[in-house]
Amino acid sequence: MAHIFDIASEVSVSNYENGQLSKPDSVKFPDTDVFRSMNKPSRFEGDVFDLEFTGTIPKDIDGTFYRIQPDHRFPPLFEDDIHFNGDGSVTAIRISGGHADFKQRYVHTERYRHETAARKSLFGRYRNPWTDNESVRGVIRTASNTNITFWRGMLLATKEDGPPFAMDPVTLETIGRYDFEGQILSPTFTAHPKFDPDTGEMVCFAYEAGGDGGDCSLDVAVWTVNADGVKTEECWYKAPFAGMIHDCGLSKNYVVLPLTPLKMNLERMKKGGNKFAWDPKEDQWYGLVPRRGAKPEDIIWFIT
Ligand SMILES: [Fe+2]
Repeated sequence: MAHIFDIASEVSVSNYENGQLSKPDSVKFPDTDVFRSMNKPSRFEGDVFDLEFTGTIPKDIDGTFYRIQPDHRFPPLFEDDIHFNGDGSVTAIRISGGHADFKQRYVHTERYRHETAARKSLFGRYRNPWTDNESVRGVIRTASNTNITFWRGMLLATKEDGPPFAMDPVTLETIGRYDFEGQILSPTFTAHPKFDPDTGEMVCFAYEAGGDGGDCSLDVAVWTVNADGVKTEECWYKAPFAGMIHDCGLSKNYVVLPLTPLKMNLERMKKGGNKFAWDPKEDQWYGLVPRRGAKPEDIIWFIT
């Protein structure tokens, strides 16, 4: 039985009726490239039954194509906001019998539910909680907008700054935060887990995985969860600096963790600035760890 948090009851409109948060009169996005033309937010949830198409869909195709993208639900708190700060929006195109049906839903994260109740953005700059509205302090900030993967009957919508959110693969309803039945509790989790085609295992990791609320910590964790959903491997490492590890590589015996010189800076964040900045003097690092029986001291860092 999946251990999934029900967050539906935690948010209500009354949270925002204390007079501090005035509702905007209209919805207006900044006139910047991030929100203009093909980047214009769709803000759409809906279904189209029996799509029009050109050509022929082979009748033996029977499956669903999923995609995920950032799609700002509300105008951002900061006019220079970036695309990656948009709410996660998932599309499913179900193909069967030579037909295709379309469905699109937002990932109803805690962020989504609080902002829906307020009818406005409450979360500020990309991955900087010091720029948020006071009313959402401590709320899981992730927009779950980066990747969608299938895992043991669920879809997992992921973004590396927070835990996965589980969705129903048929209805695209959000079930809630997913913590692997209580086995993975870190505040962050990669958007790019890897799946071993031979064993069915998921190999996954998190960076900025601990510390004071997870912000800018050097902690990196790598886990393996077997095909039955049981965590079989876990090891924690220290990165040489607080940088981004967006993806990983997997071989039969090793995991490769590419640490890019996009560095976090806590002092800059506290002043309301950007979380990440490129350090041109820093190298690209690659951490190599064994997949089985790893210990913290086993990590080898290669510098390029
Ligand atoms: Fe990616």
